[in-house]
Parts: sequence; C-alpha cells; structure tokens
Amino acid sequence: MSEKNSFSKYANHYDSYNIIQQIVAKALIRELSFKPKKILELGCGSGQIYRNITWDIEKYTAIDSSLQMCELHHKDKKVEVICANFDDSDFFNIIKDKKYDMVISSSALQWSKDLTKLIGYLSKVTNNINAVLFTSNTFKTIQKITEQDSPILDEKSIKNAFSKYFDCTFEKIEYKLQFDSKKELFSYIKKSGVSGKSALDFKVAKKLHKEYNLNYLEFEVIFVKTNSKKS
Ligand SMILES: C[S@@+](CC[C@H](N)C(=O)[O-])C[C@H]1O[C@@H](n2cnc3c(N)ncnc32)[C@H](O)[C@@H]1O
Repeated sequence: MSEKNSFSKYANHYDSYNIIQQIVAKALIRELSFKPKKILELGCGSGQIYRNITWDIEKYTAIDSSLQMCELHHKDKKVEVICANFDDSDFFNIIKDKKYDMVISSSALQWSKDLTKLIGYLSKVTNNINAVLFTSNTFKTIQKITEQDSPILDEKSIKNAFSKYFDCTFEKIEYKLQFDSKKELFSYIKKSGVSGKSALDFKVAKKLHKEYNLNYLEFEVIFVKTNSKKS
C-alpha cells in the first residue's frame, strides 16, 4: 500500500481515528496571530482545519492529493477544493500567480518529498505560513522494535526547510495516547493514516505485538510559525 493510499482507504471513517490531528488542528488555529481572509491549506483531508475557521473569509483554497478526502471536504463559492500533490509542478503552476494572506497546514507536510522546495515556492505566494507537522519521533518505540526508519521527516529537516526562507518560531510537543488493549492500539495506527507504511511482514508484526509493552502510542509534532521572510 502506498502512502497516499493509506489515507484514501480509510477516508470514510478517518474522522473517528484522528484524535491527535483534531487536537493539533484546533491548537494551530487558536494560536494564529491574525485572522487571514485568503487562505491556502495544504493536505486538507476531510476539513479538520476548515471546521475550526470561525471568522469571515474571502477565499479558501484547500489542496489534497487524495480524491476521496477532497470529496469529503466542504465546498461553496468561497471554498475551492483542488485534488493535487503539493510536491508536483502542477501544484506550483496552480498557485504561482496567486497571493495568500496565510498558508496553513496541519498533519500533512511531514509527507513532503522535498519540503525545502515546497517552502521556497510558498515563500513566493505568502508572507505567513502556520503549520503543524508530525515528526519522525512519532511511534518511535515501534520503529525501534521493528528496526524500521520512520517514513516521515525528522525535526531537523523540517526546521532547516522553513528556516531557509523564513525566520520562524518552532514549538515541539509530545503526546501519549492511551488504549485499553493492544488490539485497539494497533488498530488505531492502521486507521489513523499517520503511519503511511505498508503492512509489516508476519514475523516482524509478531515481534512487535510481543515486545510492545506500552499502553500508549507516542506522537511528536512540531508547530511552525513564520515571523518574517529572509531576504
Ligand atoms: C493526516 S491527514 C491530515 C488531514 C487534515 N489536515 C487534518 O488536520 O485532519 C494528511 C492529509 O495530507 C494529504 N497528503 C499527504 N501527502 C500529500 C501530498 N503530497 N499532496 C497533497 N496532500 C497530501 C493526505 O491525503 C491526507 O488527507
């Protein structure tokens, strides 16, 4: 299963498996330093961020590479949803002549194949980016047991990509999500769309079930707020 498909497959019941995403999306919007009127959102999913926007907007452009997610997102004359990959040149062509008060992204940019390039393009269309990204320390004990590297970006790469174009404020937060049983815990990983990994082979999965002795899952996120553009 590709990373992209791991979101699509669970698109319809995604909203019941995204507690951490819901918490960070709320926090991201709560901490905005102003209320932007023209917004570009990257990796919009089913609309977690849009649901937290309580003020009048002029234009909201939401991008997601999963068609199923795009179908679930609210649309109206101010809200346009575009199915596009934020790493593709098609996406850069769509935004290149536009200006946005703010680019927002929650729980999505950790999947970028070239975050530095993406931030470089975004710096041409906005002065403000507010984002929260999961880091590679998410599920760190699982990675240790299975001896697999995280498929998502690490803290340093994220900070470097943003800092190349903007002076930024970063805030890192760890979350622990508790479960009553191992079955529920492993089911959550599969359905949350956070892992993006293909199924483990039988032997590794067995080792993981045997050796994972925590009753919680580990998440690490980094909040990024750009302050000013670098010249
Ligand atoms: C964990 S979900 C978060 C969704 C939503 N922002 C939220 O806070 O609930 C990540 C979303 O990013 C999208 N995504 C991942 N990689 C992408 C890419 N390269 N281009 C566009 N969207 C992408 C996925 O399809 C998915 O909807």
